[in-house]
Amino acid sequence: MIKSIYDKIIELRLQLRYHNYMYYTLDSPIISDSIYDELCIQLIKLEKEYGQKKSFDISDRLLNQIGGKKLYVFSEYIHKTPMLSLNSTNDISDIIYFDKKIKKYLKNTDNIKYYCDFKFDGLAVNLFYENGLLVSASTRGDGKIGEDITKNVFTISSIPKEIKGNDFPKKIEIRGEVFMTKSDFFILNKSRISSNKKIFSNPRNAAAGSLRQLDYKITKQRKLMFFVYGYGLFHYKKKINSHYERLIKIKEWGFPLNKDFLLSGCINKIINFYNIVNIRRSKLNFEIDGIVVKVDSIFLQEKLGYVEKYPRWSIALKFPSFDVETRITGVSFQIGRTGVITPIAHFIPINIGGVTISKASLHNIGIIKKLDLHINDFILVYRAGEVIPKIRKVIISKRDKSIKKIIFPLNCLSCGTKLLYSTNLVSYFCPNDFLCPDQNLKKLIYFSSKNCLKIKGLGPKNIVKLVNYGYLNTPVDFFNLNINYLQKISGLGKKLSNKIIENINFSKNVSLDKFICSLGILYVGNSISRLLSNYFMSIEKFLYTDYLTLLKIKGIGTNIANSIIKFIQKKNNKKIILNLIQILNIFFISK
Ligand code: IVH
Repeated sequence: MIKSIYDKIIELRLQLRYHNYMYYTLDSPIISDSIYDELCIQLIKLEKEYGQKKSFDISDRLLNQIGGKKLYVFSEYIHKTPMLSLNSTNDISDIIYFDKKIKKYLKNTDNIKYYCDFKFDGLAVNLFYENGLLVSASTRGDGKIGEDITKNVFTISSIPKEIKGNDFPKKIEIRGEVFMTKSDFFILNKSRISSNKKIFSNPRNAAAGSLRQLDYKITKQRKLMFFVYGYGLFHYKKKINSHYERLIKIKEWGFPLNKDFLLSGCINKIINFYNIVNIRRSKLNFEIDGIVVKVDSIFLQEKLGYVEKYPRWSIALKFPSFDVETRITGVSFQIGRTGVITPIAHFIPINIGGVTISKASLHNIGIIKKLDLHINDFILVYRAGEVIPKIRKVIISKRDKSIKKIIFPLNCLSCGTKLLYSTNLVSYFCPNDFLCPDQNLKKLIYFSSKNCLKIKGLGPKNIVKLVNYGYLNTPVDFFNLNINYLQKISGLGKKLSNKIIENINFSKNVSLDKFICSLGILYVGNSISRLLSNYFMSIEKFLYTDYLTLLKIKGIGTNIANSIIKFIQKKNNKKIILNLIQILNIFFISK
């Protein structure tokens, strides 16, 4: 009996996997949504009946993908040598710091030569050759295990299937970037528009979508390119101690190496290379997002080693991202865990680097003044560090009569309390602490977060639900939660609820600095909390301190001391802290 249900489950999962692939990867579903849903319902029902999801060896992988976009369709490939990542920066002057750090680490003040090349914006691949023949190709994955994409890579004409000549290592791993040219990307999207298919948002996504295809014939149609930038396993009979010389050797073996690079020990020349490439990059037919600087000597690379997955001998210097024009439609005001009000600019949605953006934090009033920002202004937006949306400037020449001044609220939009002004932060803040609903929610989320009590499994979404149900009002209530309360909120099964209760109990052991930090006192973050913890060494001493004692602590000035005193002397705050002291085991550890 059980066996037949098991078989049916596997069969359904395989069917769903196939339909996911047809839908998500090929964009050509062969069944209707309702039939797909029916299959899902059947599967879930059978799984409940079987009741032992864990006993399937492939179950979780297949289960994960249902309805989702994760396609675990390739088999795993364990890299012979790890595929490392790169430390990166957007600040070109960091190259000076990087060079200094390397010289300090190596105790070497002599000229160290650096090999600089483009940071190609595509997909990293690892190609393994045995006796000169391409035997396997894989994606980077997590650096240790990637996906086996051998069949697909065989269709890329610029990747040699056989190494040229006869002077090559028995085993070698070649590493580089697979990408799509800008012109091929436009042609591909044009044809997708005419056949009513979703377009790719940038060449990198197009390359990734084309390479990670179950059907390698599709990869073949997509004209992918390849540039080599490194290697993994490299046991050559002659010792080659230079990264540059190794790449030249690899080029002789038939691999495409981009012609633009710089080999130099002069930081000014590297900065010059960066600037010239930045100016030229829009004229290239492929996308790059920076340059990569690598210590050329393999001997020194090995001496420098790596930290986590980042080699000490290399850094990526990224280019500033492009500015995109849009228009401000309004400003909203968000309250944080310390009560500080942050203005948020909302604008007509734009796409930067494949991501749609419609708002950006303005941080404080100073920034609004500096930008001379008004509602209805035309603005230039960019993504700092390729991630965080920021307003670069207002296009004053385009300003018209419709502009409106940004007016700050006088009272808290959540609790109505009169807002106070902090000259230090150039911001308004709500002094109502846990009694302000929106501030309280942020405080609760912060209290349980990784940085504070670290209650695993209870993310912001669940906290919002618990607050809405009335189960969570102050941080004390975390410790009154029980499995029934948790199970009432959607998405939390019995097992997960039990686990969360276990995690809540576990979180009761907390160091003094983390506890102080978790309170969300204005101006008191990680480092001030550490100062306070190291000084008082007990929560009671901190709670009953006074203004003058606080001022004795190095690093604590009048603003911080004032804010702490106001916080701990408030009746409601004190009550919450005293209750928490009863429940928690707050221990001191010098940091
Ligand atoms: S070297 C240990 N060189 O950047 C060094 N990587 O952030 C490992 N990339 O996954 C990589 N161009 O896909 C290197 N010239 C270049 C590169 C490059 C692009 C990518 C690569 C890697 C990522 C690391």
